[in-house]
Amino acid sequence: MLTSQRALFDMPRDVCYLNAAAWSPLPLAVQEAGRRGVARKGRPWSIDQAFPSRECERARNAAAHLINADANDVALISSVAYGVATAAKGLTVAPGSRVLVLQEDHASPVLEWMARSAEGGFSLETIERPGDGDWTEALLAAIRRPGAAPVAIASISWIHWSDGGLVHLEKVAAALRAQGAALLIDATHGAGVLPMDVKTLDPDFVVFPTYKWLLGPYGRAFLYVAKRHQDKTPLEQTAFGRRAVRAEQVTYFADTRYLPDARRFDMGERDHFISLEMASIGIEMVSGWGSAPIAERLGMLTARLVDGLTGLDLVIAPTHVRAPHVLCFALPERVADGLVARLAAENVHIAARLGRVRISPHVYNDEADIERFVAALRRALSP
Ligand SMILES: Cc1ncc(COP(=O)(O)O)c(C=O)c1O
Repeated sequence: MLTSQRALFDMPRDVCYLNAAAWSPLPLAVQEAGRRGVARKGRPWSIDQAFPSRECERARNAAAHLINADANDVALISSVAYGVATAAKGLTVAPGSRVLVLQEDHASPVLEWMARSAEGGFSLETIERPGDGDWTEALLAAIRRPGAAPVAIASISWIHWSDGGLVHLEKVAAALRAQGAALLIDATHGAGVLPMDVKTLDPDFVVFPTYKWLLGPYGRAFLYVAKRHQDKTPLEQTAFGRRAVRAEQVTYFADTRYLPDARRFDMGERDHFISLEMASIGIEMVSGWGSAPIAERLGMLTARLVDGLTGLDLVIAPTHVRAPHVLCFALPERVADGLVARLAAENVHIAARLGRVRISPHVYNDEADIERFVAALRRALSP
């Protein structure tokens, strides 16, 4: 089994950080890349002109590798919301059709469609949280509901950010495909930790940022765009999104046709090379460990956590409907109020999301962290 990677982080032993789903710490190597990048920008005359585009391709390749995509199908963007806006700008959603989202999903895969539904004449259908926690079955039922309007697209998280629920994507993708509907996956809490193969899954769009599970900086995210959507208009108009609009040429606007692949969707100022190298190194580290070993280790830690909570009156979803690395459960109100702050005062860091606590370990965590959290929670729950 993958061992704890704590030594690669600036994480003192007395810190119990179980909050990767909010934001991860940067590995030492990523911090070092950031410092290097700042020093480079401090002396721009030393930067080789080809350096930014080399770094763009390095990050694009690293991100593509996580989901088994071709680098040509991946755009460099800034956030999940940017990716969803890009998808929505290009996609024709027929009036009268349905766009499916999950109840209380993160705002980024939802709000774009909400903002467009009235003008576009389509309905936004929010799939309610199922009592048994099985988002996959709830989605399948909504997609196949007899007599319902056709589905245009499902814009959904792979792993629900506030309850840790896991969507089994293959089943949902197949059901959508059978109707000719599109699939946008917010892979924020999955990319790098769980395997994804876009070549077999064939989603329309996959989007994920670097600052959580990929151990990278803010402001860096990636958008996979299936080839069938690569003729669409990007969100922003940039020189590098076109075939030949270059400052080095005598004629600036020599060829304004868009690039033929997903690079046309790259965001403005994508060359911000400080965060680019940081993002690449974080992703390369995650890839180096591999999603299966990471998931195995994190699954072991959350299983230990569930064992440690045995006997307490807590409702924890069964393993087949939840992610191995994000554990969420509700607590009695008297305990929940102020719990995150109380634990943080003891240097135990977790999150509260929509009435649940969320515990999200990463490769720097170990059994001692889990035991420490369990002991702290048991103290909080004791009358
Ligand atoms: C499921 C999910 N999607 C997206 C985001 C972040 O979105 P954005 O990059 O648009 O800020 C988060 C952050 O918590 C999230 O949990």
